[in-house]
Amino acid sequence: MEQLLDTLGRPLETLRVSITDRCNFRCVYCMPKEVYGRDHAFLERKELLSFEELERLARVFVQLGVRKLRLTGGEPLVRRNVEHLVELLHGIPGLELALTTNGALLPQKAAALARAGLDRVTVSLDSVDDATFRALNDVDFPVQTVLDGIDAAAAAGLRVKINAVVKRGANDGGIVALAERFRGTGHTLRFIEYMDVGHTNGWRLDDVVSCDEIVAAIDAVHPLEPLELERPDDTARRFRYRDGAGEIGVIASVTKPFCGGCSRARLSAEGRLHTCLFALKGHDLRAPLRSGASDEELLDAVKDIWIRRKDRYSELRTAETSTLQKVEMSYIGG
Ligand SMILES: C[S@@+](CC[C@H](N)C(=O)[O-])C[C@H]1O[C@@H](n2cnc3c(N)ncnc32)[C@H](O)[C@@H]1O
Ligand code: SF4
Repeated sequence: MEQLLDTLGRPLETLRVSITDRCNFRCVYCMPKEVYGRDHAFLERKELLSFEELERLARVFVQLGVRKLRLTGGEPLVRRNVEHLVELLHGIPGLELALTTNGALLPQKAAALARAGLDRVTVSLDSVDDATFRALNDVDFPVQTVLDGIDAAAAAGLRVKINAVVKRGANDGGIVALAERFRGTGHTLRFIEYMDVGHTNGWRLDDVVSCDEIVAAIDAVHPLEPLELERPDDTARRFRYRDGAGEIGVIASVTKPFCGGCSRARLSAEGRLHTCLFALKGHDLRAPLRSGASDEELLDAVKDIWIRRKDRYSELRTAETSTLQKVEMSYIGG
């Protein structure tokens, strides 16, 4: 298999697939209620790629070098029978399967997902304080259920990571408590700088708590030391506790962008391929898929998109670019 490189020499290795634009949470930094309330027009079922269409596309991407596929959303666990999709994708040789979830449905779904062939799960959890967590998800969802979901995933044999977005004034007071909850558990906790994705969250640079601030807060209580990146396309800067209680990561896409090693493509729930989290339009793969394109034609279409890719939005970001038009996080899946 030839290696496919974009204009900046970056290979295509990871595919993130959004399987729904719906969610059972209304996180204030992602799907604020004022915008995603009762009148919001979500995609209709027929607009979503079917499981069979997703499997077919996944096989095409694997032929082009993809080795990791991550299911996301919206909330992927609200898509009916998601276990069946995992089972179909598990049938594709050489593909590592991961899923990013808010964890609300993990207590009842973890075992079935593991049986279906899921390898890894990333659970988004921004606070271990119940009141803060309820305020952030804005649907009054209790933190204990997500913690139970994390335990259920680990008990089912899934590798678990925890992702926490930090927004100033919302949950930055709980950084150390989060770190302490997962120190020594074997689950890697990664903090994410609040990003200027979409428009609905009213992002401001002042709301971003930087990687340096996050690390300093934890280091003051539990001393940390930096680790080398494992792979060039790693998104997280890694730090280990000096006392051996594990490590944490920080995804610093605002203050320390990492476009240079980015090998990720993103597929929206309606089958648009985005070559950057910040690429507005995407390329429609559903139309060719539904109008009888052969596998060869689909493969050529994706190849053509990737070799022209030149996105490096995060490295070019300035305070002004926050006013540019951008795709919503709940649409493209992070
Ligand atoms: C869009 S969610 C989709 C999957 C699932 N619903 C979840 O929350 O894990 C994927 C990830 O994006 C993160 N996210 C959403 N909006 C963000 C923002 N403005 N900045 C940084 N991360 C964000 C979430 O915290 C989550 O970890
Ligand atoms: S971050 Fe995930 S759980 Fe929260 S609103 Fe967005 S899609 Fe839903």
